[in-house]
Amino acid sequence: MGLDVDALRRDTPSLLERVHLNHAGASPSPGSVVERVVEHLRLEAEIGGYEAAATVADELDGVHASVARMLGASAGEVALCDSASSAWLRAFLALPLRAGDVVLTCRSEYVTNALALLRAERTLGITVEVLPDDEHGQVDVDALTRRLDVGPVALVSLVHVPTQGGLVNPAERAGAACRAAGVPLLLDACQSVGQLPTRVDELGCDILTATGRKFLRGPRGTGFLWVRSDLLDRLDPVLLDSQGAVWTGDRSYELAPGSQRFESFERNLAGLLGLGRAVEYALDLGIDAIAERIVALGTTLRDALGSLDGVEVHDRGERRCGIVTFTVEGRTPEEVQRLLAERRVQVWTANVAYARIDLGARGLESMVRASVHVTTTSDEIDRTVGLVEAISRGRA
Ligand SMILES: Cc1ncc(COP(=O)(O)O)c(C=O)c1O
Repeated sequence: MGLDVDALRRDTPSLLERVHLNHAGASPSPGSVVERVVEHLRLEAEIGGYEAAATVADELDGVHASVARMLGASAGEVALCDSASSAWLRAFLALPLRAGDVVLTCRSEYVTNALALLRAERTLGITVEVLPDDEHGQVDVDALTRRLDVGPVALVSLVHVPTQGGLVNPAERAGAACRAAGVPLLLDACQSVGQLPTRVDELGCDILTATGRKFLRGPRGTGFLWVRSDLLDRLDPVLLDSQGAVWTGDRSYELAPGSQRFESFERNLAGLLGLGRAVEYALDLGIDAIAERIVALGTTLRDALGSLDGVEVHDRGERRCGIVTFTVEGRTPEEVQRLLAERRVQVWTANVAYARIDLGARGLESMVRASVHVTTTSDEIDRTVGLVEAISRGRA
């Protein structure tokens, strides 16, 4: 049975008042997610934050289990965090990288990850090599395989779906190459969780990071980190507090079991409970059904925009998702965003500062980024395309 789009839209009444095409930025949460967050905030106000936390300990375990179910992993491998960046950094900084180690990354690397890699070059003396794209504009898996054969490589860092386009990198093939070479793959799945299947065994990654607020439709200030259990003992978490370790003696401590060692004591519990609801909501709909609809809507929007005079679509890759990037001749992306917003159509812009290796080489300073979700309708797409056409012709 297909998705009941009307019912899904009724679950998020704000979507009836505006055309929200910024799910890659932050997606409005379904009512059940918002209610769970507010309910816990009320409980904290009524009985105290620590006392409220004690009442939801089992539910919080359930959030780990829900995330694990979505990833095809085990609950003990999941750490709940407050953003994808914090999840990524917690994992990366824990890796035993040393001077001379080589880390491979991709052209579509995200700003936070790139900054950490650049800093590690300066402070640790590692070498970061950027893999080329293939003829489709996605990470070149043959080049990756050849580089892994030459060896030695300490880590491969890839972005599944970048912030700056509809590209879906061939993570499964890259993962298989990394596994064959015995090199850990750190996969930034921030833009893919909630819109595409992200089962870690299919992706072949060893570490996966994501945020709650984008295609998963969870609250802001939430995210998670998954670390394959075989890798755990090779990582040495840097940001430890009483959640991540037990202070066992004046000069000793023991790490918490599993990925809990990457968590913090102080956290937005209400948000994390909301994240659990959002993951369950997506699992109830079925990730495959979500992906099918998002990809179909993304294709419709992309094709329609691409057929307009004066509009250039910039998405790359053999496989594409629900993110569509484009520019309009004679208009800055920011202008297009503003003109659409004045007509209650919300898009965002993708800027070179977030994806310098990729957009810098393509000579793109900024693009309009429109991103659909299962709640998007054909009417909304028609309306958006009509407005972009009018903007392009100088009629808006
Ligand atoms: C591909 C990618 N990775 C990482 C991030 C960082 O996510 P967060 O803002 O939750 O740290 C983003 C955010 O837009 C992203 O698009």
